Amino acid sequence: MKRVGFLTSGGDCQSLNATMRGVAKALYEKVEDIEIIGILDGYKGLMYGNYKKLGPRDFSGILTEGGTIIGTSRQPFKLMREPDENGMDKVRAMKNNYEKWKLDCLVILGGNGTHKTANLLREEGLNVITLPKTIDNDLYGTDMTFGFQSAVNIASAAIDQIHTTAASHGRVFIVEVMGHAVGWLTLHAGIASGADIVLIPEIPYDIDKVIAAINHRTEQGKNFTILAVAEGAISKEDAQLSKKEKKKKLKDMKYPSISYQIGAEIEERTGHEIRIAVPGHTQRGGSPCPYDRVISSRLGAAAGEFIAKEKYGIMVGIKNNEIVPVPLEDVAGKLKMVDPDSSIIKEAKSLGICFGD
Ligand code: F6P
Repeated sequence: MKRVGFLTSGGDCQSLNATMRGVAKALYEKVEDIEIIGILDGYKGLMYGNYKKLGPRDFSGILTEGGTIIGTSRQPFKLMREPDENGMDKVRAMKNNYEKWKLDCLVILGGNGTHKTANLLREEGLNVITLPKTIDNDLYGTDMTFGFQSAVNIASAAIDQIHTTAASHGRVFIVEVMGHAVGWLTLHAGIASGADIVLIPEIPYDIDKVIAAINHRTEQGKNFTILAVAEGAISKEDAQLSKKEKKKKLKDMKYPSISYQIGAEIEERTGHEIRIAVPGHTQRGGSPCPYDRVISSRLGAAAGEFIAKEKYGIMVGIKNNEIVPVPLEDVAGKLKMVDPDSSIIKEAKSLGICFGD
């Protein structure tokens, strides 16, 4: 008999249910006597002992359902070693519940922060297998995360919709795309939907270059410009600041986000009419795209097989279209960022996309 606990943690995405379904299906196929429990609302459920039993019927019909059937929450890694408001030792509590529920392993679906805690639990002696979730595609050790392509579809569709109205009015539009630390989503959505200017955290922008690119389009007789701007886009000057100074500057910013600040600067210096569109959490919502359903099903199936073989302490990732186990200690705490010298950036530049550098 095997008892496995499923847990989804951090920001949700479209393909969490599809992935859990994949793991469950493989477990029901490969392990003779299997019991699955769903730990509720991420690590919070593991700390405070909240779970529900799940059976084959719970995993039926959820391949195309967004969100997560077991809930999620953000539990910052940096607070894991700090007691909660009642003095409870969170790590001790998680270990106690793991033992009390007689679990053979935890299946944890999450992004960067989630992986740091998963690795901590591994170091504490728990059997852990993780699956790479995030619309940001910034997890180290895997070429692709599930959720990313679904979010690319939504962000691209948002930019597509803007094209006709931008052209009709001859306006400059900024579409703000999710991603505070990395720009994969903005980069892919920007290329996919023909954005003229793409600003991402990895390539700090010079506002003069951005304005020059808009003016160049005007000179060519193009009456509109579309910018895809990541939430974490940063100017060359701000990129020089220390972490503390950056935090303060963001806190004191008089605009709701960086896109509004960039918009105000462009308006002031060019006289162009600017509009900002923020698709926000729509990028994480709704049904997973077929690509995500496929990789989620593959990753899930492989995780089920690893559990059957008792291979723990790994993230199940994708390398060169093959599903591979990656040691958790190699993943935790590392970000996969866009390399400004990579070929995708060079190709985008050859298409005339301006990165403001
Ligand atoms: O990590 C996923 C993500 O959607 C980021 O792209 C975004 O910056 C952040 O989460 C938003 O977080 P929250 O849902 O907590 O507002």
